[in-house]
Amino acid sequence: MSKLYIGTNTKMYKNIAQTASFLEALGRQTADLSRESMELFVIPSYTALDRVSATARAAGIRLGAQNMGWEDEGQFTGEISPTMLAEVGVTIAEIGHSERRHVLGETDEMENRKVHAALRHGMTALLCVGETKAQRAHGIADEVLRTQLKEGLFGVDAARAEQLWIAYEPVWAIGVGGEPASAAYAEARHAAIRQALFELFGAAGAKIPVLYGGSVNPENAAALAAQPDIGGLFIGRSAWDAERFAAIIRQVLPIFADKAEGRRRS
Ligand code: PGA
Repeated sequence: MSKLYIGTNTKMYKNIAQTASFLEALGRQTADLSRESMELFVIPSYTALDRVSATARAAGIRLGAQNMGWEDEGQFTGEISPTMLAEVGVTIAEIGHSERRHVLGETDEMENRKVHAALRHGMTALLCVGETKAQRAHGIADEVLRTQLKEGLFGVDAARAEQLWIAYEPVWAIGVGGEPASAAYAEARHAAIRQALFELFGAAGAKIPVLYGGSVNPENAAALAAQPDIGGLFIGRSAWDAERFAAIIRQVLPIFADKAEGRRRS
């Protein structure tokens, strides 16, 4: 796992014009950075997807959707289907973001159906997991993560593991008012996630990128990136300005290159 996985979900911010100018600027700001060493992705609002699809492709930025229904079509008012998303160039389905789980009531069983739908359609399934503040206080963070992974990935064949990315995003660390996890805390949870992925998929599980998200900013990005089990960063607010996002990317790219070099040597 030598690549840096780095991206942003713009949540319910940025209209079509704002998303287009953000992607154009991000493309310009990162044009000199090889995509061989980095998977760069942006997950904007649904309404912007079609408009920015060509721009993203030309800039080497993968496009994701913030949520996805699990059926190809049907009587599911308000849902969006994998085929509709594929039609506009989406290759990543973000599944189970904390706001979907905790504000909109999604369950692990629903996330599991969405994971299978994404895999069936050849997309990358980006499954988000994370414990709440109360679960952390009760000392059950790792149990929660294991449950979310084992239920969310239930029935996935190891042969499909290369289509999976995981984002570890502690609920208490996300968004306005969130406190970032310390690098040591995040690393300990990532190690637990690694173990669960190994139990699920064996050797194939070790290759699944696991990204950290939750109040990542220019001050803490380097320390998080340096952790052995952190395979990338999933950033909200600090990535919504292209220049600021590009500065974080430039800061962490060499750290990932060093980690990859270290692994090659050992
Ligand atoms: P944040 O959002 O970086 O603004 O905390 C992270 C996320 O929700 O993915």
